[in-house]
Amino acid sequence: MLRVASFVSFFLLGVGVPHVWAQSTFEPTDFNVTEALLDNGVNVSAIPALEGLVTRSSPSACSIACSSLKFLFGSSNVIIQGASGYDSFTDSYWSVQQASVDPYCIFKPSKALDVSTLVLISRLTQCPFAVRSGGHAAFAGSSSIQGGITVALEKMKGLTLSSDKKVAAIRPGNLWYDVYTQLESQNLAVIGGRVSAIGVGGLTLGGGISFFSNIYGWACDNVASFEVVSASGLVITASPTSFSDLYWALRGGGNNFGIVTKFNLQTISQGQMWGGGRLHLETEFPAVIDAFHNLGINAAQDPNAAQILSFAYAQGTKFASADLQYAKPVADAPILAEYMAIPAIQDTTKVRSLADLTVQFNASNPNGLRETYWAVTYKLDKDFTTFVKDVFFEEIAAIADAASLIPAATLQVITSPMLENMAKKGGNPLGITTADGPLLILNLNMMWANAADDTRILKANSNIVKRTVAEAESRGLAVDYIYMNYASQFQAVVPSYGATNQAKLKSIAKKYDPTGVFQELQPGYFKLDGAPNPNMP
Ligand SMILES: Cc1cc2nc3c(=O)[nH]c(=O)nc-3n(C[C@H](O)[C@H](O)[C@H](O)COP(=O)(O)OP(=O)(O)OC[C@H]3O[C@@H](n4cnc5c(N)ncnc54)[C@H](O)[C@@H]3O)c2cc1C
Ligand SMILES: *[C@@H]1O[C@H](CO)[C@@H](O)[C@H](O)[C@H]1NC(C)=O
Ligand SMILES: *[C@@H]1O[C@H](CO)[C@@H](O)[C@H](O)[C@H]1NC(C)=O
Ligand SMILES: *[C@@H]1O[C@H](CO)[C@@H](O)[C@H](O)[C@H]1NC(C)=O
Repeated sequence: MLRVASFVSFFLLGVGVPHVWAQSTFEPTDFNVTEALLDNGVNVSAIPALEGLVTRSSPSACSIACSSLKFLFGSSNVIIQGASGYDSFTDSYWSVQQASVDPYCIFKPSKALDVSTLVLISRLTQCPFAVRSGGHAAFAGSSSIQGGITVALEKMKGLTLSSDKKVAAIRPGNLWYDVYTQLESQNLAVIGGRVSAIGVGGLTLGGGISFFSNIYGWACDNVASFEVVSASGLVITASPTSFSDLYWALRGGGNNFGIVTKFNLQTISQGQMWGGGRLHLETEFPAVIDAFHNLGINAAQDPNAAQILSFAYAQGTKFASADLQYAKPVADAPILAEYMAIPAIQDTTKVRSLADLTVQFNASNPNGLRETYWAVTYKLDKDFTTFVKDVFFEEIAAIADAASLIPAATLQVITSPMLENMAKKGGNPLGITTADGPLLILNLNMMWANAADDTRILKANSNIVKRTVAEAESRGLAVDYIYMNYASQFQAVVPSYGATNQAKLKSIAKKYDPTGVFQELQPGYFKLDGAPNPNMP
């Protein structure tokens, strides 16, 4: 790791930054991939598959890339299509759309240096790649790539606490369940996902709403630093004091800037908590919306409380499911009294551990179905919340007969305390501030069985989005922001952060990745310019 070492020493010795590292030339224009690989201990001339790779981007680019990786890392870390372990890996995605994508090979790096070599081999051969952490992004190509290299981070599972226990260094192959179970014995937690099987990588890079976000903010706002592999294969640490522009960009900018090989997350003190789900019938909907709204606007009064409200439809019946949490082991917090007074037909709330609560929520999100997620933000308004609920039920009437369909409209509040926390440590690129808040987030989420129903189900989602946005505009409640972690492939997430933030993100990408490796060679998910698929149904 010659380059890494010399690079770090320039900083530590305070001898100044040599020309090639200056502001606009993080990667020099004469950057030589072959020499960079040599610095990683990889001699390109010694790799049989690379012999004769004279013209790059040959049709067999991925055959050459995957054979090279296999030569370097062995068949237990590089699984080529048809080899054992290939199908069980592709089957392990949450959505069937992602599970149906067939990469040329799956690469399982063990450390940052392996990830660096992968990026350089991709550049050398021009074989594209995708990166997968927990594999819970819904649409095809998010963390999978047809005919390319899927980089599965599952072997990068380490978690270590700093000596003062204030920071947990977490490798990106961890799921939130792994993280919470390792931290709970120390009465610690971090700001992360609410479902056990979600990955640390995707959730944190897109924002990350947790049970504790009214107290501490979103996951991205509680990252002390990121260890990142850059497009040139350098392993660098982005923090508020080093590469601070890159640190800012990674707090919500997704997969556009590098591959994160370590998330250094600030820990919180956290013991047992209270939480679960309460199920309500249609007669209670007005009371449920009142309780949702009041808790949303009053979040600062007791930020230990959190909520997720879903409207759903199953077997001809409309339901509301209120998932309620309290950060302390308290079953009767006054701030939740309005909710608890509403008659429920089922109630799983109890005092329990964080990990246990995330396992309960995982059970209602099984693998093996077709999935779609959509996101819209509006200003929080009680009558408008009722309007959104009504439009949802109107539009799903047309698709209610689709086999195994479970449609839901999940509502959350981006509360004032959450927005205040977004300004911490130099802020994030999401483009929402306390002046806008509180905000209402709608996450449409639907699961179903048959591909034949895709078109009409996507159309119903798009109708709900278009109708509610038009109404929000006429009521003065429209907000541009689209939450990456819930967005569909038809939504332009990064542009929704605002023209200024988008331009800043693009200039940061240009600085750290001048040839556009993370835009072109890693084409999936939300790129800097627009929607993955511009043809919204
Ligand atoms: C059942 C369910 C529950 C959810 N609960 C929550 C929740 O409580 N709060 C919330 O905010 N969101 C939640 N989400 C949304 C979730 O945050 C996104 O789906 C997220 O993308 C999942 O992350 P992942 O690592 O599992 O996904 P992946 O599909 O593995 O990754 C998503 C994207 O991130 C990129 N990526 C992942 N790791 C890295 C890395 N180390 N470096 C660079 N790029 C990387 C991938 O390339 C991909 O483009 C939930 C989603 C589902 C399906
Ligand atoms: C990159 O470096 C290698 C090894 O030093 C050299 O053979 C090759 O010509 C260089 N490539 C370019 C494009 O300069
Ligand atoms: C790289 O490998 C080739 C072929 O095996 C060998 O001739 C050459 O000396 C090696 N270069 C280095 C720098 O090790
Ligand atoms: C989550 O649920 C899936 C599917 O039901 C199951 O296979 C998986 O083991 C669960 N994961 C965790 C971490 O709870």
